[in-house]
Amino acid sequence: MKIGFVTDLHYREAVPGESPHPQREFRRVGALLRRCLQHFRSAGAELVLVAGDNVDAPLDDPRLDTDLASLREMLTGSGLPFVIIPGNHDPAPEAFYRVLPRSPRVLRSGNCEIITFFDDAFDYELRCASRQPELLAEMHQLLSSTPSGVELTILLQHYVLYPEQEHHDSDYRYNYLNDAEIRAIMEASPRRLLALSGHLHRGHPLVTHNGVTYFIGAALCEHPFPYYLLHTDADEITVQEFHAA
Ligand SMILES: [Fe+2]
Repeated sequence: MKIGFVTDLHYREAVPGESPHPQREFRRVGALLRRCLQHFRSAGAELVLVAGDNVDAPLDDPRLDTDLASLREMLTGSGLPFVIIPGNHDPAPEAFYRVLPRSPRVLRSGNCEIITFFDDAFDYELRCASRQPELLAEMHQLLSSTPSGVELTILLQHYVLYPEQEHHDSDYRYNYLNDAEIRAIMEASPRRLLALSGHLHRGHPLVTHNGVTYFIGAALCEHPFPYYLLHTDADEITVQEFHAA
């Protein structure tokens, strides 16, 4: 199965102003995303996953919904089924999903099951995310057995689960506060798991740790404007990286 994966679009069109982070070329993102979706379609992707930070503007700007609606039109116009989740730059899930279509928690696509964590809590004072106890319990329940015919389970979330927190050039925490607790639930599962995240704009290559595979997509809005095709049929998952510019 081929799955298109893209993250951290930081799209801004209707909202005026420039980014305080000049490397985020958010006014180019509309054209970049259209190119990326066209490629997913011609490459035979069966599903597109979008891992959050879809827009980039003050959350109280009334024009933000216009930008979210433009994204919805681009994604819907691709003709491909898609799953999109909010990140810390997007409105909270309730407002986000008034504009974008909300996928069920669990979605089946071919021999893959996709579990979508659209509702992880982000603390804007601490500037980091955590997965709440009731969601951990639901996750534990879902992962405790393998449904018939499911060969791969993909967990889609915005924030980082693995590698553990790195301190390169800042002390900003990209990982969940309780990432170890989340990983422990995955490591105890009998399922074959792939966890997909965004948030860390430089991304991180595919890596397997304690039996669970992790991939962090780099941000579409930053040079070299990457997006990915995941190939999940073989015994080994592979990731192909492309650049939209
Ligand atoms: Fe981001």
